[in-house]
Amino acid sequence: MSKPFDIEIASLTDALDPCCATALRPSSDARNDPGAKSFYIETFGCQMNVHDSEKVAGVLLARGYRPVDAAADADFLLYNTCSIREKAAQKVFQRLNDFKFAAKDNQKVIGVLGCVAQQEGEEIFERAPWVSLVCGSASYRNLPNLIEQVESGGRRVTGLDLDTDETFETEITRRDNPFRAYLTIIEGCDYSCSYCVVPHTRGPERSRASDSILVEVRRLADAGYTEIQLLGQTVNSYRDPSPRKWNFVDLLLAVAEIEGIRRVRFTTSHPNDFTREIVEAIDSTPALCDHIHLPVQSGSTRILREMRRTYTREQYLEKISWIHGARREFSLTTDVIVGFPGETEADFEETLTLLDAIQSDGVFAFKYSPRPNTPSLAMPDAIPEEEKSRRLAVLQERQRQIQIARNEKLVGARFEVLVDTHHTARSQWAGRTTSNRIVNFSTSRENFLGQYVQVHITRSAPNSLIGEEVQGGEAE
Ligand code: 5AD
Ligand code: SF4
Repeated sequence: MSKPFDIEIASLTDALDPCCATALRPSSDARNDPGAKSFYIETFGCQMNVHDSEKVAGVLLARGYRPVDAAADADFLLYNTCSIREKAAQKVFQRLNDFKFAAKDNQKVIGVLGCVAQQEGEEIFERAPWVSLVCGSASYRNLPNLIEQVESGGRRVTGLDLDTDETFETEITRRDNPFRAYLTIIEGCDYSCSYCVVPHTRGPERSRASDSILVEVRRLADAGYTEIQLLGQTVNSYRDPSPRKWNFVDLLLAVAEIEGIRRVRFTTSHPNDFTREIVEAIDSTPALCDHIHLPVQSGSTRILREMRRTYTREQYLEKISWIHGARREFSLTTDVIVGFPGETEADFEETLTLLDAIQSDGVFAFKYSPRPNTPSLAMPDAIPEEEKSRRLAVLQERQRQIQIARNEKLVGARFEVLVDTHHTARSQWAGRTTSNRIVNFSTSRENFLGQYVQVHITRSAPNSLIGEEVQGGEAE
C-alpha cells in the first residue's frame, strides 16, 4: 500500500490566513486570443485576497485580456498583496524587483493591489518607480476606470480611497477552485484590534445585499458548485443593507436552502458576534458545515484587553461551551498570536490551558509582528524574537499532541468526503469532510474528483485522516 501522508497544520483550514502565495491560473474557459493583451495575478495572503483576485481577473477578462500562467509572459502583471505581518509585506518588494527592467522598457505594466498598496500608497512609486498602478481593496469597484487610465499610458494611477460604503461586485468572476466557490458577503472591519492593519487597509465594514448574494449562489449551483464558502474578515457581523435587513443566521439558512448546495462554510467569525443562534442553525441544518473558525488570539484576559479584542477568556470559553454542547460534532479551529507586547510567561500559560480546554482541530499560530499605523506599535515591553519563537514552538507542540489524540479517536469512523485532489505519485485521493478535516484515502475506482464518497478511517495523523473508500457507499 502507498505511504500515507499528513498535511501541515497551516493548511488544515482555509482560514483567513496569509500563509502562502497563490498564482491565479487560466482555466479552460479563458480567452485564448493570442492578439489580446495578457495578464497574470500573483496573490499573497488570505482567502479574501484569493477571491478578490478571482474578481479582478473577471474585470480583466471582461476588458478582453487573456490570462497566462507565468508572470514572465504577461503584459499586465498584478500583485495582490498582504501586509498582516511584516514578512508578508516584504515579499512584495522582493517581487517588484523581478520585472523592474521589463517594466522600464515598457514591455510590461505592473500594478500593486491589496493591503500593501493601501498601506504604502504612493510611497510604492518612490520605492519602485516602474509600478504604474497602486490600488487598495476598497477601491476595486473603480478598477475598470483605473485600468483604462493605465491603458491610455497613465502612470502613477492610484485607487486609495477608504471612505466607502460600497462592495466590490463583478459581472464575471474567474473561479479558480472547481469544487468550492468563494463569495464575499462583508468587506472591511469595524473592530480595532490593537495589532491589526486590516481596518486601515480594508476600510470600514460594508455588507453586500442579501438578494445579490442569493442570485450569485443560485448561479453557482446552476454551474455545478455544491460547496459555497462565505467570506468576510468578520463574516458573522453581516448586516443586510437591503430593506429585509437579514442578519447572518437568516442569510446562512437561506443559502443552505438553495437547490444543489450541499455544503455552506463561512470564515472568519469574530467571537463578539458569535451567537448561540449560529450554533443552533448549524445543529439543525445538515447543509451548514459543522466547522467553526473562531480566532481567540490569546487565553489571557489581560492580553485580550490590551489587544482590544472586546471579550474575555471566560466569554470565549462560554461560546465554546455552546459548540461542545451541540448535537452535531463540530470541528473548531482558531488563531493565536504569541509574544504580544507585555505577554508574561503566566499569560502564555493561560493560552496553553485555553487550548487544552477548547480541544480544537487546528491552530494558526503567529509570532506577534509590529505593524505600521497600529496602536500596539507603541506599546512597551516588546518580547524578544527568540522568546517569541520559543513560545510558538511550545504552543505548536502542545496543539500537535491535542490533534494526535483527537484524530486517533476518529479511527473506525466513516465520513462523507468531497474529493478535491488526486495525488498521482502516491496513487491516493484526498478531500474534505463537512468538518473541513482532510482525508487521504485509497480506492480502486478512477477519476471521481468533485464527487462525494464515503470513507472509512483506518489511521490518523496529527493533521489529517487516512482511510479507504467504502465500496458501494457513494453518496447520491
Ligand atoms: N502579528 C501577528 N499576527 C497577526 N495577525 C493579525 N495581525 C497580526 C500581527 N500584527 C493574525 C491574527 C489573525 C490572523 C489572520 O493573523 O491571528 O487572526
Ligand atoms: Fe483585524 Fe481584529 Fe478586524 Fe480581525 S477583527 S480583521 S483581527 S481588526
